Amino acid sequence: MSAISTKHLISIKDLSSEDIELIFSTADNFKEVINRPIKKVPSLRDITVANVFFENSTRTRLSFELAEKRLSADVVNFSASGSSVSKGETLVDTVKNILAMKVDMVVMRHSSAGACEFLARNIDAKVINAGDGAHEHPTQALLDAYSIREKYGNVAGLKVAIIGDILHSRVALSNIFCLHKLGAEVMVCGPTTLMPKYISSLGVKVSHNVREALEWCNVANILRIQLERQQTRYFPSLREYTLHFGVNKALLEEVGRDITIMHPGPINRGVELDSDVADSGQSIILNQVENGVAVRMAALYLLAN
Ligand code: CP
Repeated sequence: MSAISTKHLISIKDLSSEDIELIFSTADNFKEVINRPIKKVPSLRDITVANVFFENSTRTRLSFELAEKRLSADVVNFSASGSSVSKGETLVDTVKNILAMKVDMVVMRHSSAGACEFLARNIDAKVINAGDGAHEHPTQALLDAYSIREKYGNVAGLKVAIIGDILHSRVALSNIFCLHKLGAEVMVCGPTTLMPKYISSLGVKVSHNVREALEWCNVANILRIQLERQQTRYFPSLREYTLHFGVNKALLEEVGRDITIMHPGPINRGVELDSDVADSGQSIILNQVENGVAVRMAALYLLAN
């Protein structure tokens, strides 16, 4: 098997398209493993991984933990709440103390953009970014692209619209980098106030009209409004946002195209996406979650080796 070209996984920018293809082909093998009656392989038997979460998570945290356990790694979990962070301990001191217990890899989520890169520069262990502020969420982008590849056989040539709060979204940024590396076209769609000023420089199409985005794309990846990152009001009300940018069955029927619906979760049902779409045959949202375990197994395995 070939080797991945990076020591850490901080940003999709660290990966070549060959690295991404290697992660996908390795994930294909692990997906087969996790669908067996015995879902475990001994690949990381001598490796200890710390999942260090300074910010809330359901999918990413469980998915990494399951991936590590399916690879037979030893796993320790740390969350900021209830830890000595509340007594003023720094990020580096916290992680160095965890590493003193002989940990080989750190999977970290942090509310500050750049925290994972800072950590990687200050410790010897390998670091995987599980989401850093509004910067990147590389494994989410990998599992999203993997799920698109699974549905269509290929990512190149497809048109993917990312709809919602682009300004505060690490998922949007990582998806744009990943999809471009794999040869897809990307459109971002949302209110002007939720669009970063630099967005056109990323080589994406920009729309402020959800119908236009749906008429253009093969795949719509719908994002949550990240109220927890908004210190100011970016639109008059959630009701108004839903009226102009919410995706529902009636709208999809009017557009009348066979669009695949994705969402990284957590969904705010009835705000950015209605249940009649989220739970429909067009949606691959739970496939994304299933694929997350296989893709994270692949990333952990390739980085550990
Ligand atoms: N997609 C995602 O990052 O979800 P969590 O915040 O639940 O991990």
